[in-house]
Amino acid sequence: MKILVTGGAGYIGSHTLVELIEKGYETVVIDNFYNSSAKSLERVKEITGKDVKLYEGDIRDKALLGRIFTENKIDWVIHFAGLKAVGESCAKPILYYDNNIGGTLALVEVMAEHGCKKIVFSSSATVYGDPEVLPLTEECRTGGTTNPYGTSKLYQEKILSDMYAADKEWTVVLLRYFNPVGAHESGLIGEDPQGIPNNLTPYISKVAIGELKEVGVFGNDYPTHDGTGVRDYIHVVDLAKGHVAAIEKIAKSGVYVYNLGTGIGYSVLDVIHAFEKACGHKLAYSIKPRRPGDIAACYADAGKAKRELGWEAKLGIDEMCSSLWRWQTMNPRGYKD
Ligand code: UD1
Repeated sequence: MKILVTGGAGYIGSHTLVELIEKGYETVVIDNFYNSSAKSLERVKEITGKDVKLYEGDIRDKALLGRIFTENKIDWVIHFAGLKAVGESCAKPILYYDNNIGGTLALVEVMAEHGCKKIVFSSSATVYGDPEVLPLTEECRTGGTTNPYGTSKLYQEKILSDMYAADKEWTVVLLRYFNPVGAHESGLIGEDPQGIPNNLTPYISKVAIGELKEVGVFGNDYPTHDGTGVRDYIHVVDLAKGHVAAIEKIAKSGVYVYNLGTGIGYSVLDVIHAFEKACGHKLAYSIKPRRPGDIAACYADAGKAKRELGWEAKLGIDEMCSSLWRWQTMNPRGYKD
């Protein structure tokens, strides 16, 4: 079986490639390296011993997509390619809608032309907006997104679902990720944010290695166990395996929605303390004002993926932190080393 992985050089894409290749799938990657490095694909080869077939370019380039589908008999597409920085999306909404929604439209159009109608889409728990109830099940209300990045995920889910409504041959799998963290156990692939990280764990690891001074904790007056924001952090390798489970288990056309999380919520302070254990020293932090747009708490009911896909997260917070620390120490400048 041959799988096209869009955005395969990115953080989640590269980890998913490893899991696919190790299970014997043939993979083809399209990536424009806008926010990723070709080095990650060399590292995937180092881990798996297999070459990754790469097409360098943008998924909005329909001619290139056409060539990929003509030259390869693709069975499934796992679609990661897209922009993902919340702050940047507020400053550049057109860039985000064009890349994310425009990219998805071009992709599904060319897929349909070539008779490939199976897609796994990289969605996000952000589509739930500010949760009304916790834990979040797949039936919870979606909407109320607070930034163009989140809204683009919501719209892409809707577009893909509408496609199935119009053409029942489509298989659409919407995977709603909670907070992906950690790195492959080899320390060879991991998250490589450009500039100062926005997300919590890459920021913590830069403080741990001495590149940044202290962690700013965004608010300690939320209604949570210690007042700091609570999230469902999931190890990126578990997340990657969730994609493999989806393509292995889903045999009939339809729209399938799954939360990929652990079901456990950790606060910002919990994560800082878990990371201190992993890196072996104390970390400086200080309480800052709340970050606009942040919610108090968000965690999954991950039962549906377990029941229907036989998938559940296996790795805990200690493995998330220790693998991230290994990646950070082995690659202090990410893929630039
Ligand atoms: C963010 C995005 C979300 C996206 C996800 C991808 C926002 C508002 N949301 O989720 O749409 O799908 O990343 O991974 O950006 N925190 C600090 N100090 C920091 C950084 C974060 O205290 O320097 C806190 C935040 O307030 C939050 C928690 O850590 O409580 C996690 O933050 P982050 O890693 O940015 O993820 P989310 O905001 O949950």
